[in-house]
Amino acid sequence: MIQKPKGTKDILPDEVYVWQYIEEKIKYIMSIYGFKEMRTPVFENTELFLRGVGDTTDVVQKEMYTFKDKGGRSITLRPEGTAGIVRAFIEDGMASLPSPLKVYYNMAMYRYENVQKGRLREFHQLGAEVFGTGSYLADFEIIEMANRIIHSLEIPNVELEINSIGCKTCRAKYQEALKQFIGSKIEEYCDTCKSRFEKNTMRILDCKEEKCKENNIGAPSIIDYLCDECKEHFNNVKYMLESNGISYRVNPRIVRGLDYYNKTVFEFVSKDEGYTIIGGGRYDYLIKELGGQDTSAIGFAIGMERLIELFKKYNVNKVNDLKPEVYIAQVDDKCYNFVTKLKMDLRQLGIYVESDISQRSLKAQFKYANKIGAKYVITIGEDEISKEMIQIKEMETGNVDEIKLDKNIIKSYLEK
Ligand code: HAM
Repeated sequence: MIQKPKGTKDILPDEVYVWQYIEEKIKYIMSIYGFKEMRTPVFENTELFLRGVGDTTDVVQKEMYTFKDKGGRSITLRPEGTAGIVRAFIEDGMASLPSPLKVYYNMAMYRYENVQKGRLREFHQLGAEVFGTGSYLADFEIIEMANRIIHSLEIPNVELEINSIGCKTCRAKYQEALKQFIGSKIEEYCDTCKSRFEKNTMRILDCKEEKCKENNIGAPSIIDYLCDECKEHFNNVKYMLESNGISYRVNPRIVRGLDYYNKTVFEFVSKDEGYTIIGGGRYDYLIKELGGQDTSAIGFAIGMERLIELFKKYNVNKVNDLKPEVYIAQVDDKCYNFVTKLKMDLRQLGIYVESDISQRSLKAQFKYANKIGAKYVITIGEDEISKEMIQIKEMETGNVDEIKLDKNIIKSYLEK
């Protein structure tokens, strides 16, 4: 049997309704914050991610699905959404739209990861981006929206962690201090860290290797190197969170796995599972770096598989799949036509109705109606058709009523 590729998941009908419930809920929240949906291609020119995400990141160095197409172009399946959205923002002239511009996306992403709990090779992100404002008010609004999403889904034990990684000026000073700290013991680090020492020292703090993590203990903190402007920005974000009742923890270790960030970065971390559900931050340089006008931006992405896993853990009984309101059992082939017509009429009235389409026995039809959780069952034979009266049975209580065989009367009975 051919199996699905490692790190991918099938989402079956008995799980999809949970996805739909959550997606609708998040999209609704985003819509009342002014975000409009956009969609970009599954694959992009590889260069976009080399320049956008950063060629010293794990995502680019180890995790991209990159291949040559038949025309010899280097193509990559998107490992994240922001770079593609920014490319479209520039290419499609979105800078001329009213600013700030708020967009969201709900798309599959691809990373060649070591597969483990919460870490897939194909996964979904529902992300939001705001273009055109460098104000701390935008940082607050985007973090507050992410917070609202977590709370509206009633997922407990999630902590908001924030940090500031400064601007180009303060980061240069910090990189120097970090180089001094790491420099004397660089030989004790893994090869990847060694290769990052010159070009992107901060990324060493993100290494997952035990020996590197140990060596990083006591490293200087970026917070101590922030310039006045970045410090003020960060203080304002914290002040807004505090004065609006959003609890957070400053974690100076958050550097994020992608290179485009500056100033505020944040993660919503599940204490139950130990993984990050939502990650985001400001990226004021990226648009210019990818060839656009100087435009400030901030955003986040929700890891949908992780969010849904946690939602199911706590709220499994809160959402129900749609069940048929009524099942019409047909006694024999003489009533097929009549029942089909009635079924079509009821559907026209917006009622979820089922009847047999496999020419099965009455007994088998009742069994099926039970299995699919139909709320009511009506049985129709020649007798019912000629008398224009039917019995309607409520499956949960066993209660039976007799009503007129008429689509409008059935409808009002179901709505009672
Ligand atoms: P990220 O932190 O790489 O950020 O990913 C965001 C979220 O996607 C993670 O917190 C996690 O929930 C989920 N995720 C990432 N990798 C995997 C995986 N292999 N399997 C399952 N879930 C995963 C970004 O991608 C940025 N583009 C977010 C952003 C938007 N920043 C600004 N705007």
